[in-house]
Amino acid sequence: APSGFDPATQEKGTLSRDYVDDRQASSEDCLYTTSNGVPTAHPYESQRAGENGPLLLQDFHLIDLLSHFDRERIPERVVHAKGGGAHGYYQTTDPMDDVCMADMFKAGKKVPITVRFSTVGGESGSHDCARDPRGFSVKFRTDEGNWDMVANNTPVFFLRDAAKFPHFIHTQKRDPSTHLTHADDSTMFWDYLSQNPESVHQVMVLMGDRGIPDGWRHMHGYAGHTMKLVNKDGEWVYAQMHMKSKQGFSFITQEDSANYSPDYAQKDLYNAIEKGDYPGWDVCWQIMTAKEAEKLYEEQKINVFDLTHIWPQKQFPLRKVGEFYLNENVKNYFAEIEQIAFSPSHLIPGIEPSADPVLQSRLFSYPDTHRHRVGANYQQLPINAARTPYRMANFQRDGPMAFINQGSRPNYLSSIEPISFRKRQVDVDKTHAHFVVDAVSFLSEVRPEDFNAARNLWEKVFDDGAKERFINNVSGHMSTCRKEEIIKRQIGIFREVSDDLASRLEKATGIKGYDGISNLRFNGEHNGMAKDKSLKEAN
Ligand code: HEM
Repeated sequence: APSGFDPATQEKGTLSRDYVDDRQASSEDCLYTTSNGVPTAHPYESQRAGENGPLLLQDFHLIDLLSHFDRERIPERVVHAKGGGAHGYYQTTDPMDDVCMADMFKAGKKVPITVRFSTVGGESGSHDCARDPRGFSVKFRTDEGNWDMVANNTPVFFLRDAAKFPHFIHTQKRDPSTHLTHADDSTMFWDYLSQNPESVHQVMVLMGDRGIPDGWRHMHGYAGHTMKLVNKDGEWVYAQMHMKSKQGFSFITQEDSANYSPDYAQKDLYNAIEKGDYPGWDVCWQIMTAKEAEKLYEEQKINVFDLTHIWPQKQFPLRKVGEFYLNENVKNYFAEIEQIAFSPSHLIPGIEPSADPVLQSRLFSYPDTHRHRVGANYQQLPINAARTPYRMANFQRDGPMAFINQGSRPNYLSSIEPISFRKRQVDVDKTHAHFVVDAVSFLSEVRPEDFNAARNLWEKVFDDGAKERFINNVSGHMSTCRKEEIIKRQIGIFREVSDDLASRLEKATGIKGYDGISNLRFNGEHNGMAKDKSLKEAN
């Protein structure tokens, strides 16, 4: 039973009130009209000159119908195109106001949410059971504005340099010439990975059991990035958010995935909510002071700004703050899921970005894509609009589809009709102060510590069954890689993780890989490894 509150008895209605009428649309008492509201006798009517003559330009009804149809699709998301979601509520069960001043972390605070889950690489019609990370985005509609947590189901990522992201993603898109995806040809995918060894931790996770979670209800979510939490005195800590599934984690094997329908995860979520079996997640944070972050780097070579690393949970245990449940299916997929626009830069007072360079790039990239995908006024759409207790005012005006254009209020900072401002809550200079020295200097270098977490997975986390499935998953995937050299390089990378792993993979692929990576060069000359030292010695 849910400890904080009962999702079954929650009122529904996450969306802005103005929108509710449209969501409740029924066919009763309505009259067929053109888009300007003019009643029309029948939908199947086209005006034509005579019995066999051409159509007439004056027929607004037909032109209205066809031209709107022509514009039904907006660009699909460039990544995370296939997904689904639902609405629900978050509630704070264990207040965290000692470390964070966000209003929503005060005792008992409850906020409506919308969640969207997704796969990453595939197109909008692709399979829910693809081996791929899963996106896990939450829009918290707080009293201080909307906060988006745009997370994945894995705590790490393939890269720590955002400049690599478009390259890596392109390897999972269709080949420019053959137009095949990496389901049929994994050459590009392994070519990228075998040239960028810092990806190995995420590759281990992806090719292991977590690579195909059993739907969306049975997976956890991780911010991955280090964030900053600021309290009301302006004191701040580094923090990582985790969303732990109350349903637990379960997975689907590669072989079994062929038995699932393409929309399995969507169906599973939808049906569970319809049945009243509301899925829930605990919201937890790991917390670290700036001093601890420096010590962690000095002693364990874990850089909190490096997205390929995790924070050890033994040293930085999870602290639960609240929980959320999804208790309402969407009524209109396009309006409530396709047009929803999440961004890591949609933050509220008390939650700030860290200097993680990938996070910093994402702060830019998401609103940029929303302006392209949804339009400059994407924040005005009912699904994206904030539900604040105060009236929102700013000086943004006009642009396409501006339907909340702030009436007659001045469009500049006027002394005649002034608007109010929030008082500055903390000393911003204080919260912006800390950067760990050396944080950004090795974005493209490969370090011995890049292999530690992957080695730990192989040696301590994977049991015999998981190891066997991992080898089968990787060798199966590599069977469509057209270049032996790429596989040899990737085996060299895996050898830095574990000799045992590499030799098993050699057996499974029938290809003898490199002995390690010390003689390989990555990203030009920026390997970062001493030429005459093997990685293990350096370690
Ligand atoms: C979606 C860029 C890394 C999680 C997207 C979208 C872009 C993007 C352009 C499409 C958004 C839209 O059209 O609405 C990037 C860049 C990255 C990066 C440039 C790195 C440099 C990450 C990481 C995570 C992540 C590290 C998770 C920790 C997501 C999720 C979505 C998404 C969950 C789907 C959002 C939704 O459901 O609408 N990303 N991304 N991304 N990204 Fe990233």
